Amino acid sequence: MKATALAHPNIALVKYWGKRDDALILPHQSSLSLTLSPLSVTTTVEFGAASDQVELNGHTAKGSERDRVLRLLETVRAQAKADLGPAKVVSRGDFPMAAGLASSAAGFAALAVAGRAAAGLPSEPRAASILARLGSGSACRSVQGGFCEWQRGERPDGEDSFAVQRFDAAHWPDLRMVVAIIDRGEKEVKSRDGMKHTVDTSPYYPAWVKDAEAEVVQVREHIAKRDLQALGELCERNAWRMHATSFAANPPLSYMSPGTLALIQHLKEQRKKGIPVWFTLDAGPNPVLLTDAAHEVAAEALARACGAVEVIRCVPGGDAELKAEH
Ligand code: DP6
Repeated sequence: MKATALAHPNIALVKYWGKRDDALILPHQSSLSLTLSPLSVTTTVEFGAASDQVELNGHTAKGSERDRVLRLLETVRAQAKADLGPAKVVSRGDFPMAAGLASSAAGFAALAVAGRAAAGLPSEPRAASILARLGSGSACRSVQGGFCEWQRGERPDGEDSFAVQRFDAAHWPDLRMVVAIIDRGEKEVKSRDGMKHTVDTSPYYPAWVKDAEAEVVQVREHIAKRDLQALGELCERNAWRMHATSFAANPPLSYMSPGTLALIQHLKEQRKKGIPVWFTLDAGPNPVLLTDAAHEVAAEALARACGAVEVIRCVPGGDAELKAEH
């Protein structure tokens, strides 16, 4: 009746941006991401509590945050076909929340894995990915480690919309992701609201969807060959295009801060000097730099020189995992 799971956040190399079904969280396009270690979220689910309780990072969750957790557990109860009773959920992350680092992805992936285990359901990455998706779209890509592709699927019920692992974390041990925290604050417009506004009002949105599927295929090839330059160039272009859809929304939406632009413009100069470093950027001001092991220290130094208040050096992360209960 009680289980604890740990999951890593993921950074999308080809982004998910926009839903075709808001309730089931079904995307307009496929996406592909990489999990980030050592960052993680650990979540415990215990059924049979006196009442539903949700604690996130030491605070009692309220409103839509709480609703999303409870909705996911409602699906677990239905799948277990058992009267499991109310649930106590305690979740804790080890990195800045809501700073555009997709902490919710790791949180919902850990919740899905722990929730299924606490309900006595078998460990099944596909079922856990679909469940995690109901909490937050990008969470479906944090159930397994390494490089995961969220296939958009076609079915209206979402049963074919889940992430599959394309390459595990050991495929490219030399790859490094350097998270540059430009701003620790909570972003003004959450991804969920920003993408909806973009889908509803940006004339560039259809072009984004059209390009994305081909980019997923290309990115897979670059990863297969461990071609950092090709991967970096594609990731930058994909991030620019995602942000361009939001710039063109009405009213326009920008997640970049002056510090973000200063850093990402600076990367061009670094590449001219022979330092292999590219960026990607989710819906927030904090870029993630892509480089290799030989250049991660240089990448950290340039992020700090451009005003990053905190820098986290990451390697490809593994699968979400259950922890032993004591
Ligand atoms: C820009 O998964 O946080 O990080 O499905 O509404 O919960 P919801 O949104 P979320 O959006 C992530 C958007 C992104 C790109 C990505 O991770 O693919």
